[in-house]
Amino acid sequence: MKHYTSINDIDDINSWIEEAKKLKATPLKNIDLGQYKTLGLLFFNSSLRTRLSTQKAALNLGMNPIVMNVSGDAWGIEFEDGTVMNGTTAEHIKEAAAVVSQYCDVIAVRAFPGLTDKEKDESEHVIKSFVKYASVPIVSMESATEHPLQGFTDALTIAENATKKRPKVVLSWAPHIKALPHAVANSFTQAMQKMDVEFVIANPEGYNLSKEITKDTKIYHNQKEAFKDADFVYTKNWSSYDEYGQVLKTDSDWLITKEKIGEAKFMHCLPVRRNVVVEDAVLDSDASLVIEQANNRTFAAQLVLKKILEDL
Ligand code: CP
Repeated sequence: MKHYTSINDIDDINSWIEEAKKLKATPLKNIDLGQYKTLGLLFFNSSLRTRLSTQKAALNLGMNPIVMNVSGDAWGIEFEDGTVMNGTTAEHIKEAAAVVSQYCDVIAVRAFPGLTDKEKDESEHVIKSFVKYASVPIVSMESATEHPLQGFTDALTIAENATKKRPKVVLSWAPHIKALPHAVANSFTQAMQKMDVEFVIANPEGYNLSKEITKDTKIYHNQKEAFKDADFVYTKNWSSYDEYGQVLKTDSDWLITKEKIGEAKFMHCLPVRRNVVVEDAVLDSDASLVIEQANNRTFAAQLVLKKILEDL
């Protein structure tokens, strides 16, 4: 594999899941594969899980990870072509990506959307510029519209916890105080569409994800109806897509509660705001898979890096 920037880069999700399970059972089996290879992790935005689990995955493969908080510590990077750079940016992506490619065998990038300009966010100009101007493979650690390491992690977690052949999985919107990206919900949707599950989405009116992502997935605007017979409730907030980046609703009637989810397992990518998105009683119960999910981030990243290293 050359780059991993989308769930669409997964050729066969079931074989990936089986391979990730094997890596999880023997994480150091391929410790020689990445020897003398460097993974550069470039963060334009904050992270706890992605930052640490991707480093851990690299270490499990014998790689040397190096990390930079680009927004705080590097020169401001210009992504537009032909710009007179007399403003806040001091270095063009053409030079930045070429230079970092000399230090790293693989580059991983996190860059969130601005959520003010839909067209610009959907152009994925940051991750695509790295793919264009770097000479080494690029891994997305969450881009403007996708979080493919999280999406594969979630598929692995569902496969490990399913107690029936074709479980019912509900992606439910929940309230939040801030405008959040669509990336996690998009990649989760794409991952579920590749799996043998009954997958539906629940969100209030005005919060439908892009039709390009949801395709023919059933969308409910009634949470109770959507949760009927659910085996997994995956919760995430996202801002409005139609009224791009807007927060249309903050009241608690879509809060995830123990009563609402019944016997279903609860999933969330974390970080999560307790008692805004989901009540304590869910997170503190045996129904919650969130810690296990976060653990699987390492093995999802490790499989992606292994596949890239094998093709270097
Ligand atoms: N789920 C996730 O990507 O977590 P971080 O933002 O902490 O990396």
